[in-house]
Amino acid sequence: MKGVILAGGLGKRLEPLTRITNKHLLPVYGKPMIYYPIEALVEAGIKDILIVTGGNHAGEFLRLLGNGSEFGLKAINYTYQKGEGGIAEALRLARYFADNDKIVVILGDNLIEKSIKRYVDDFSKQPKGAKILLKKVNDPERFGVAEIKGSQIVKIIEKPKRPKSKYAVTGIYMYDKKVFDIIKTLKPSNRGELEITDVNNEYIKRRQMTFSVLDGWWSDCGTYEALLRANNLVARIEASLRGRRPKQSR
Ligand code: DAU
Repeated sequence: MKGVILAGGLGKRLEPLTRITNKHLLPVYGKPMIYYPIEALVEAGIKDILIVTGGNHAGEFLRLLGNGSEFGLKAINYTYQKGEGGIAEALRLARYFADNDKIVVILGDNLIEKSIKRYVDDFSKQPKGAKILLKKVNDPERFGVAEIKGSQIVKIIEKPKRPKSKYAVTGIYMYDKKVFDIIKTLKPSNRGELEITDVNNEYIKRRQMTFSVLDGWWSDCGTYEALLRANNLVARIEASLRGRRPKQSR
């Protein structure tokens, strides 16, 4: 399976932080944001990775990440999205990279506490369709929200005013090769974007969508509050790791 990290868009909600750099290069505790999704994929056993970036600072990704040797990779692939036509538009650029293989997609501003390996392994055994990861949150209206009946998602609504559940759709998506045909059929939403939620709803309509509830914390970094929260969550892990390390003699 291959991995795709979507790090395009203009990060306007984080102005002026994003005026002179790309959102995904901003610091989250001790590392640039983009490190976390790369590490999540590598930890899950994905070695073939494409980064879709965009905006005015795309060259900086190459300067920062090079060929990915810091992450144990032989190479990192890059492509460029013009403008911010939406998550599904960014994903469309991964078609040739995917080359009919299944893909794990992760949004470049999504951070997770624990391994996603078991979900990725489950999906590699799933004969067809898609799989998404949900997380119970207190502010579902900020996200795509899953309406669940029994063991099935019946619909996802993007940023609903009155959410039907507290289960947000996280920015970790797994797809078979059909995803690119589905993207071709999409029309821009009210916010002028090709929505990943429309892709997911198509898989739900075809009864080919499975889901799991993500273990551990999850945060995006799309707003000042979310970015601060992500920083604090990582800081807490780092502090607990330091606490566990044996004291070094001076
Ligand atoms: O974080 C999870 C949420 O991400 C989901 O619950 C929503 O269903 C999904 O639509 C998305 O919501 P946001 O409105 O928060 O997405 P945002 O526009 O902030 O974009 C998230 C990342 O996706 C961004 O860091 C980079 C990538 N992206 C986004 C756009 C609009 C692109 O690569 N290209 C784009 O054009």
